[in-house]
Amino acid sequence: MLSLRPYKSCDSETIEKWIRDEEVFKKWGGLLFGDFPITAGTIDDMYRLNNGKCDEPDNFYPWVLFDDEGTVVGHFIMRYMHGDRKNLRFGWVIVDDSLRGKGYGNRMLELGLKYAFEILNVDKVTLGVFENNEPAHKCYSSLGFKDKEVVIKEPWNVIEMEINRADYT
Ligand SMILES: CC(C)(COP(=O)(O)OP(=O)(O)OC[C@H]1O[C@@H](n2cnc3c(N)ncnc32)[C@H](O)[C@@H]1OP(=O)(O)O)[C@@H](O)C(=O)NCCC(=O)NCCS
Repeated sequence: MLSLRPYKSCDSETIEKWIRDEEVFKKWGGLLFGDFPITAGTIDDMYRLNNGKCDEPDNFYPWVLFDDEGTVVGHFIMRYMHGDRKNLRFGWVIVDDSLRGKGYGNRMLELGLKYAFEILNVDKVTLGVFENNEPAHKCYSSLGFKDKEVVIKEPWNVIEMEINRADYT
């Protein structure tokens, strides 16, 4: 069985190991952290900074997916958009590089959507995916996320996706 729990500082050491090459780093959204290669310290500093922001309290939720042995196998974050507590965004989605393509990402975000719609009670969840990231785009589409628009960006264009409460089953 796979479960979600809040991220802890020590998880950054596990997440760092999954980001082995620069393309994965960029597709994951790593450029928002700085340059490749990324370190556990960089990840953890970013999360502690966002968690502790006093001008935007309680607006950043990093999660990890873990298996029956307690091994951490996936990670993503949630945050409210512009302080709007009905509008949540997922980001920095990643699965252990030795376990990709086995349904872990799908299950992780399925649990994330359950938390978003059933516990946080949001109206919609959005995310952005680079248009050259087919596995990620397929993963999100299979969960009910719909393409909304393509935003011209560097290093690649971003497909903005969303799922509304009405589309969540
Ligand atoms: C994107 C990512 C999180 C998806 O997680 P995953 O565990 O590999 O995906 P899943 O096994 O749950 O697959 C979900 C869907 O994507 C499809 N898929 C997975 N890997 C694929 C691949 N290499 N090529 C094409 N489709 C793929 C699966 O067939 C499945 O589709 P289905 O539900 O219609 O059968 C993972 O691949 C990853 O960590 N990538 C590197 C970081 C990254 O790019 N993050 C995305 C940031 S936006």
